[in-house]
Amino acid sequence: MTQSSTADRPQPLNDAEQDTASVSRREFFKGAGAAAAASPLTLAGEATAATPANGTPEQIHLTFGDDPSTTVFVSWVSPSQAVHPRVLLERHSKTTSVIHAVQRTYTDGMNGQTVFTYHAKLDALEARTSYHYSVTADNDQNRRTPFTATFQTAPRGRTAFRWTSYGDLSTPVTSWVLSSPQSRHAVDAVERFEPLFHLMNGDLCYANLNPTAQPAVWADFGHNVQRSAAHRPWMPCPGNHEIEFGNGAQGLNSYLTRYSLPDNGTRFAGCWYRFKVGSVLFISLAADDVIYQDSGAFLAGPEPLTPAPSTGNAPIKPGTSVYIRGYSGGEQTRWLEHTLAQAQQDTSIDWIVVQMHQDALSSSKDGNGSDKGIRETWLPLFDRYGVDLVLCGHDHDYERSWPVRGCNHGVGRDAKSAAAVDTCQPQPVLTADPPEGHFDTTHGTIHLIIGGGGTSSPLDKYGVNPQNGAPQAKVITKANRPFPGPTPGVFIKLGADAVEDAIWSARRDTVTGYGIAVFDVDPGSEGGKTSITMRYYHAAGADRSPSANYELFDTVVLAKNRRDA
Ligand SMILES: [Fe+2]
Ligand SMILES: [Fe+2]
Repeated sequence: MTQSSTADRPQPLNDAEQDTASVSRREFFKGAGAAAAASPLTLAGEATAATPANGTPEQIHLTFGDDPSTTVFVSWVSPSQAVHPRVLLERHSKTTSVIHAVQRTYTDGMNGQTVFTYHAKLDALEARTSYHYSVTADNDQNRRTPFTATFQTAPRGRTAFRWTSYGDLSTPVTSWVLSSPQSRHAVDAVERFEPLFHLMNGDLCYANLNPTAQPAVWADFGHNVQRSAAHRPWMPCPGNHEIEFGNGAQGLNSYLTRYSLPDNGTRFAGCWYRFKVGSVLFISLAADDVIYQDSGAFLAGPEPLTPAPSTGNAPIKPGTSVYIRGYSGGEQTRWLEHTLAQAQQDTSIDWIVVQMHQDALSSSKDGNGSDKGIRETWLPLFDRYGVDLVLCGHDHDYERSWPVRGCNHGVGRDAKSAAAVDTCQPQPVLTADPPEGHFDTTHGTIHLIIGGGGTSSPLDKYGVNPQNGAPQAKVITKANRPFPGPTPGVFIKLGADAVEDAIWSARRDTVTGYGIAVFDVDPGSEGGKTSITMRYYHAAGADRSPSANYELFDTVVLAKNRRDA
């Protein structure tokens, strides 16, 4: 076990750190003591009187490592420092491995609370295999019956599998800003569809809107998602509400400390990454690096925000925002291009799916809208390398685009003056459902907004051009930094500065902002076509009162020739 300092950026675990010991079941229980409990994974014995604090595992969640068919991380939090934190993994050879966890901590820069997280790397696993595991520590108060769950590794090769996605979840604890009971139903929805994994496309818990209690909000999020995330990986990307005051250069210490994710080989471990399942390459991006909009932690005022004295941090002045556009100095975009170029050469990859939080194509009326920063930085790469699907959240609604490729320049208008503005309006390659019943995304990328995880703020109102009734989008084409408003000492930020006709918008859900997207991959057969069927289920009525009833709203089939054709 190693211990990081509070300032450390979480790093991928290496083999030496994980200190995996494989022992036979008999040896395991001999070493653990005689009074083995009923569960084969229960570590017997009492915590000694000298055992300090409470190391009980909670907020347990899984993520895939670099190769989802062989590596899964088990991560958790404990109320205070854990002693000998570990995962007990039952292998099919009927041996139990003890995998020691790496500790990572951070001290919240606002309230001074130190958060203890633990990460166990389970590797050398077999593909498409179920594993039984438990999580414990010497000072686990549930040590006699530790937390136990089952997960499945990814299959290899061209094969069928399912994943799900949404963003903007929040917590069920309604005393927190933007939390809602719907977030509990949303987690249950993932379990209903039993995906191999879930893509959580940003704005996890909105801790930064509750700045004096950030770790407590994260804890409520972790408790809520454990019902699913302990059984199947939840693969996240950071959203603007993961950007917190006092928690590192990009405000992402809370997020980065809690998740172990595939390595990207850069200084920004955990911010962006890739992984492959079957013939699908998944690329998870951190869009705050390229967007114009300023939407991280922000203090309007008039009062300053004073961190706990123990942090030693100075009061935050009204008008402060954590604006991190450009933080990687182009490193993320270079990594993206390199990753896409590699994928182009790899004929085992049929599909490329990108996840990010903010939107290049959103016509939400009350939400944020589309960001030109993504359009000008990443959409040309999506075009050049044939990205099939882009999954986003940020606007708390559902919108699907037509396949788009290239853009029209100079057709937007300034929202106030109506002067011409270049919004880089994406160009649809068709604007009606194809007669063959499926979209061939070889010709264009489909963008989905799936931001209806569970916040208290559904945003299912969409822009309409008052002149012709056609869809209209707000577009952010420049930074909307805070400035002093009419109330003395209070700062404001403006929304999108431009509008355009949303000629790319195919379907918008005006019934509810809440839903979940379910994706089924059909690998097809050699020399033939492969497909992805996306079904979007929405929780009708949930805008008025929380609903567990998710019904089918939209179905779209993507199909293309296999690369081995
Ligand atoms: Fe959000
Ligand atoms: Fe957001």
